[in-house]
Amino acid sequence: MENLVISDFKLGIIAGGQLGKMLVLAAANWDIQTFVMDREDHCPAASVCNGFFKGDPLNFEDVYRFGKKVDMLTFEIENVNIEAVKKLKAEGLRINPDPDVLEIIQDKGLQKQFYADKDIPTSPFRLFETVEEIREAVKNKNLTLPFVQKLRTGGYDGRGVEVIKTASNLDHLLEGPSMVEDLVQIDKEISVIAARNGQGEIKCFPVVEMIFNEKANLVEKLICPSSIDDQQQQEAIAIATRVISALKLQGLLAVEMFLDQDGKIWVNESAPRTHNSGHHTIESVITSQFEQQLRAIFNFSLGSTHLKLPAVMINLLGEPGYEGEVKYEGLTESMSVEGVKFHFYGKKISKPFRKMGHATILASNIDKAIEKADIVKNKLKITAWKKQP
Ligand SMILES: Nc1ncnc2c1ncn2[C@@H]1O[C@H](COP(=O)(O)OP(=O)(O)OP(=O)(O)O)[C@@H](O)[C@H]1O
Ligand SMILES: [Mg+2]
Repeated sequence: MENLVISDFKLGIIAGGQLGKMLVLAAANWDIQTFVMDREDHCPAASVCNGFFKGDPLNFEDVYRFGKKVDMLTFEIENVNIEAVKKLKAEGLRINPDPDVLEIIQDKGLQKQFYADKDIPTSPFRLFETVEEIREAVKNKNLTLPFVQKLRTGGYDGRGVEVIKTASNLDHLLEGPSMVEDLVQIDKEISVIAARNGQGEIKCFPVVEMIFNEKANLVEKLICPSSIDDQQQQEAIAIATRVISALKLQGLLAVEMFLDQDGKIWVNESAPRTHNSGHHTIESVITSQFEQQLRAIFNFSLGSTHLKLPAVMINLLGEPGYEGEVKYEGLTESMSVEGVKFHFYGKKISKPFRKMGHATILASNIDKAIEKADIVKNKLKITAWKKQP
């Protein structure tokens, strides 16, 4: 890739949400031309990329035609048409991460089976075709409550996941082929983003801890460094390293894990791309997750993942009760908080809990960063010009 910077190299990115936008911005630093395909003309990446193509990532023709226009294909989502990327690969297009890896990851059943086959710690699971089969298994005492049901394909942001704790919850089971796993008694949710280049060099970002809002059951902030002890951090990093090397993935892999109440770490799921839990790296780590993805897919040496300053990342979500043209209230006051860095994704319409942007707050220690993040969170409200009826 010696000629990358001067070669008019065209990087194709499938989907142009906020992750795609930040990847485009990182690629612009190296003067790489970026082409983005997304369903929405006004997606976040559309305004910053070199070329935009409207298309559906799950549609064979759209993905195939887009692939034919670029020199390399990468992704901001895993739900893409596998047949199209396999055909493009067979015809010689460079695709990172590889379609075979995407195929495993986009099916939560195959993904779990992969962990089990590779002795990667993950909660015990079974696969079911229908809701009736699950009910039958419970009735016959082949399956005991509580458990978590996840649709094998198509879920995201918690959609496609049902926690079944009591017999009455069985009414909420989701239709379709699913994976059912033991409920983990979670102490903390953590994430490690690993990167691997074509020579097999691997580097991991520091462990990030997700802090939940108990009332809303939503991730409220992500903190780095996490509060887990050194040995647990090393173990989490070792697990993420094992997963990415077992997959032989060239690119980035975000490994979501649970630390249970007995101190054991379990892999929940992985995403073969940049991730919400790595946004803070733009400001807090020597190499951002977006630059690292580029280094990995172009087979350069991976950049330093050293944490420069403690950081808290908060998602800026649309306020519940408002839907319509977005309005930012309290922006001036929140900008005055020392160490805050804002990223607005350019989404024109706000909806309850929609990710409209994020803020990273840097401070000399993590407690100060948490304190400041809470101030920003209280000051900035993302509403809409019209209240929901
Ligand atoms: N086995 C489990 N035991 C306990 N809680 C679980 C389990 N699996 C999932 N959860 C809870 O449900 C959340 C969402 O699950 P998961 O990450 O698998 O779904 P997702 O739709 O891919 O979510 P996202 O896109 O937000 O990552 C987890 O972050 C965790 O809080
Ligand atoms: Mg998840």
